[in-house]
Amino acid sequence: MRAVIVYESMYGNTHLIADAIGAGLGTAFDVTVLPVAAASPDVLADASLVVVGGPTHAHGMSRAATRDAAVKAADKPASPLRVEPGAHGPGLREWFGSLDIYPVKATAFDTRIHAPATFTGRASKGVARLLRAHGFELIAEPESFLVTKQDRLEPQETARARDWGVRLAATVVPSKA
Ligand SMILES: Cc1cc2nc3c(=O)[nH]c(=O)nc-3n(C[C@H](O)[C@H](O)[C@H](O)COP(=O)(O)O)c2cc1C
Repeated sequence: MRAVIVYESMYGNTHLIADAIGAGLGTAFDVTVLPVAAASPDVLADASLVVVGGPTHAHGMSRAATRDAAVKAADKPASPLRVEPGAHGPGLREWFGSLDIYPVKATAFDTRIHAPATFTGRASKGVARLLRAHGFELIAEPESFLVTKQDRLEPQETARARDWGVRLAATVVPSKA
């Protein structure tokens, strides 16, 4: 059985979380982890589970303007941040626009700043809504993984992401995980 993880990432944090979720799902699945720019719709065709996540920008999923702002922030001489290949887009919002209907099990995740979600917003809520709109069957609540105000993952978040992947695997393939 194959699981596909599609991620969007500007500064690499969501990429690290996607890899960690993939390590957890590997207890029960052959796992493919793909940046959104490389995730052609045909990769979903034979997947038993699809997991989609991205960074929270302006309380929701990224847009071209927020991605540009993220690149500009990293380009400042004093910034320690580096942008991922493909950071300019397309993002998940545009990717969903290219998708058909997929009756496949799925769930959503995001990264966001470590503060109450009522203040930060959660990109995963928008991802989950678009998954449902494209026929996916949501098998778990959207999950957030937290970064500091300096855009670094909080300690333990990759371990927590791996554990989440193990639990997802057990939800879909109870006897093998
Ligand atoms: C333009 C911009 C807007 C952001 N807006 C929010 C926000 O509304 N809420 C939040 O929690 N984090 C916000 N952030 C922080 C991002 O969530 C954080 O940079 C992201 O989770 C890091 O993931 P990445 O390294 O994969 O890009 C914003 C970041 C940028 C660059």
